[in-house]
Amino acid sequence: MAEITRDVLIVGAGAAGLTAANDLRKAGLSVAVLEARDRVGGRLWTDVIDGAMLEIGGQWVSPDQDALKDAIEELGLETYSRYREGDSVYVGPDGQAHRFTGEMFPVSPETEAVIARITGILDALVAEIDPDKPWEHPNAAEWDSISWDAWLRSQTDDDEAVRNLAFATGSAMLTKPTHSFSLLQSLLMAASAGSYSNLVDADFILDKRVVGGLQQVPLRLAERLGEDVLLNQPVRSLEWSDDGIVATTDDLTVRARYAILAHAPILYNRISFVPPLPRRQHQLHQHLSMGFVIKVHAVYDRPFWREQGLSGTAFSPYELSHEAYDNTNHGDERGTLVGFVSDANADGVFELSAEERKERILESLSHYYGPEAKNPVVYYESDWGSEEWTRGAYAASFDLGGLHRYGADLRTPVGPIHFACSDMAGAGYQHVDGAIRMGHLVAANIVDARREAGAPESIG
Ligand code: FDA
Repeated sequence: MAEITRDVLIVGAGAAGLTAANDLRKAGLSVAVLEARDRVGGRLWTDVIDGAMLEIGGQWVSPDQDALKDAIEELGLETYSRYREGDSVYVGPDGQAHRFTGEMFPVSPETEAVIARITGILDALVAEIDPDKPWEHPNAAEWDSISWDAWLRSQTDDDEAVRNLAFATGSAMLTKPTHSFSLLQSLLMAASAGSYSNLVDADFILDKRVVGGLQQVPLRLAERLGEDVLLNQPVRSLEWSDDGIVATTDDLTVRARYAILAHAPILYNRISFVPPLPRRQHQLHQHLSMGFVIKVHAVYDRPFWREQGLSGTAFSPYELSHEAYDNTNHGDERGTLVGFVSDANADGVFELSAEERKERILESLSHYYGPEAKNPVVYYESDWGSEEWTRGAYAASFDLGGLHRYGADLRTPVGPIHFACSDMAGAGYQHVDGAIRMGHLVAANIVDARREAGAPESIG
């Protein structure tokens, strides 16, 4: 068993862990990043499948995501805008494709008025929420005890309005059925993007992409750390005390003063802690779970929908693929569509054979773009539910009642063990921006803790 000693051990080479490691290095501390997979990036993964470059994980950058934008600039990466010229498509309860422009779906004037009214209420509630501390709102307990679906249905009897309002934080973001999480969790999701209106505005939330793929952010961060990033090193056990930690993988022991667990909180229980984590952490970690969505990539010989005056942006709370976009790569002659199949719909299609699933999903895309959508030259489904070191997509959120009960302790360190991940961010929650923010925050907290401890000599 090889053994190394560092000031800080970081578990997980995703955006959060690599950001923290770079900050700590800059502060003069020695680090080791242990990564279970054979690659860095975690939920950021840009790969070439059958000759097509695909963003298998996260990809979009929105204008409010300052931490991510700063990282992109600092790393010398370039961005480009998502294609959005032309009409969007909405499939309503009649099953027909309706073209529209702007943010409001082409629904009846009555339904439009209901959506506008409830959006106004939601924007007002979201403005009262601090995304870093949603549990501190005076109504937090009440808002955490009603499901997102039940709250919306208490506001109106208009089913089409409810479905359209629900899916922004439901299928499209938390990727869980809307009866399974609370109004408070939904308000946090919206507050993390600045407002509910921002969250439903595709031109805002899905604004830009990085030329060559967003995985370059973690790849370049890892490059700077060189041999201090160790791949194929799943941390199996972590002994901890006030004097520090000893972590072991299958063939390595790392001694360090501090540890950062920089991965989805649902994976903490993959590590044996000695002594066990405290009661509070044992309880709270059980109230978090990953959402589930299939990201579907369909590449065509050309972006044929543009010839029909379509932007590629498509929505329907009635379709298997509830949203889809033009995802053509920068400078690529071929056209790529990306669609999403979420929560219970994703469970359902995984009951089918791969061929039947593909057929059903492409059929759904054809309802937006016409029959040509059924014949891509490359087809791929990102299935993060099968990834041992992620187990779902996009991220983890609390069950009904869990956020106000446990949220405040999610980031609380336990002895020398600190926590960082997009799944515990305020601004940028469940996004790369949030992962980077949490990476910066945890590094600053460790630097402060060291200073308070009298800033001992670096041990690495
Ligand atoms: P992340 O999960 O990325 O990294 C944790 C790392 O820890 C992993 O590499 C894992 O292997 C490792 N690990 C876990 N346990 C370990 C152990 N015991 N030992 C060693 N290593 C261990 N965001 C966005 O901003 N825009 C977008 O468009 C999208 N879209 C999107 C699509 C899809 C399909 C997914 C899955 C996700 C997104 N996201 C997104 C979300 C975004 O990708 C995500 O929030 C961040 O990349 C998470 O970064 P973290 O570093 O917090 O965790």
